[in-house]
Amino acid sequence: MIVFTEIKDVREHLRAERLAAAKEGRELKVGFVPTMGYLHEGHASLLRSARMDNDLVVLSIFVNPIQFGPHEDFERYPRDSDKDMALAKREGVDIVFLPSVNEMYPQPTKTKVQVAELTDHLCGAARPGHFDGVTTVVSKLLNIVAPDRAYFGQKDAQQVAVVAQMVKDLNMDVEIVPCPIVREEDGLALSSRNVYLSPEERQSALVISRSLRQAEQVAREQEEATAEDIVAELVRTIESEPAAKIDYAEIRRFPSLESIPGSMRVKDVEGKLLIAAAVMIGTTRLIDNVILTTEGVK
Ligand code: PAJ
Repeated sequence: MIVFTEIKDVREHLRAERLAAAKEGRELKVGFVPTMGYLHEGHASLLRSARMDNDLVVLSIFVNPIQFGPHEDFERYPRDSDKDMALAKREGVDIVFLPSVNEMYPQPTKTKVQVAELTDHLCGAARPGHFDGVTTVVSKLLNIVAPDRAYFGQKDAQQVAVVAQMVKDLNMDVEIVPCPIVREEDGLALSSRNVYLSPEERQSALVISRSLRQAEQVAREQEEATAEDIVAELVRTIESEPAAKIDYAEIRRFPSLESIPGSMRVKDVEGKLLIAAAVMIGTTRLIDNVILTTEGVK
């Protein structure tokens, strides 16, 4: 495993690898997993998919300042480089790209990549500017690594939809591969931010995955359930936990993120549905979701 901190070095290395493969008549498929580090089994599952599909696996670790709001947790975002390197090695990563903030943003960027509409809802509404920061850094990283495939977790379902839209709109030559949510045995979706939770909060946080499971069950089992009923179920369950405060709890089409009329029966919706929640547990904001296909609902 080779670790690079400079853009020119990672580029040069990848160029040389591609050239060497081409000389032997092979095409080198590069899989890329962008992360902010403090790696856990969710990240590991992305790395495993990338390992299976590609000849070379590139992992980036970069806590991207421009996707954090002024009062968010950029400064205290958890970092543990040694543990990350051990996990990367274990998962057979070939190249780690670990740039500094100065390497990625030697001066404040004057160019931003912005995806409209999809970013108006859910986390986009709750965290103004967040997705501009994500699409800008992901564009930069894709330009640096130039992978064949890039892997993103459905844990951040809106991020997957936004990045896929950007890649399509800008004709970026990369396949976006969505990967399923990895959970703890008790249902909590893995997140680097789970480390902020006290043992009591960790217990309270279980209400998020539980509420989504229940909402999903209502959608599957109750023929007449409307979009409004699903959201009501979700809200009712989350509000039953005193330590939880809802940021949003919604049902939308996926991946367009268009709203669904409240009175519409869920089984009448064509295509995929996203049931998503963002919940404050104490001072920690956690997100989770389930995606339903209407075949599953009918
Ligand atoms: P980060 O939160 O580190 O997540 C990196 C990738 O891991 C994302 O694609 C995320 O969806 C995925 N992931 C996180 N938890 C997961 C889980 N429990 N199951 C499956 N996948 C999971 O998302 C970001 O970083 C940043 O926004 C980034 C894309 C790197 C841009 O800065």
